[in-house]
Amino acid sequence: MASFTLNGKPVSVEVSPQTPLLWVLRDHLGMTGTKFGCGIAQCGACTVHLNGSATRTCVLPVSGAEGADIVTIEGLSDNDDHPLQQAWREHQVPQCGYCQSGQIMQAADFLSRTPDPSDEEVTQAMAGNLCRCMAYVRIHRAVKRAAEIGRASQASTAGVGVFDPTHDQEVTHGQV
Ligand code: FES
Ligand code: FES
Repeated sequence: MASFTLNGKPVSVEVSPQTPLLWVLRDHLGMTGTKFGCGIAQCGACTVHLNGSATRTCVLPVSGAEGADIVTIEGLSDNDDHPLQQAWREHQVPQCGYCQSGQIMQAADFLSRTPDPSDEEVTQAMAGNLCRCMAYVRIHRAVKRAAEIGRASQASTAGVGVFDPTHDQEVTHGQV
């Protein structure tokens, strides 16, 4: 029996404690947005948040998630309106889409700790998430844009200013 919180709700599953969390999420709990890529913690497709930290679930036994707070792409926001999801749509990031939930979950953890990242910081933070469609330029731009959206939202909530809309709105149709 494994028990943890999944996207805000308590869940319990009858599985071997050695079962990778990825398969528990996908096969037992229906969270199929999280993908299997390599199975050896090298691609990032299986990334979710475990107690707020981006974690690769293909190599994590479910016993390692006991009592943890797990968030998958399905639970990242209530209305698909997380700044990253907004930016992903704005920049039309996905190609095949397979790597995308892992990319977004990695970026969400990164931006939560680094709300105003440099290009170099974005590159470093996202370097371990592979995209076989080579959508790296769009991913990078969308992470930067999401940071802008997030900061604007924070400023608005705090009542300290209004977002400067003169950001780079270049959309990368068909580019990689
Ligand atoms: S499937 Fe987990 S890192 Fe590739
Ligand atoms: S969009 Fe196809 S693998 Fe990244």
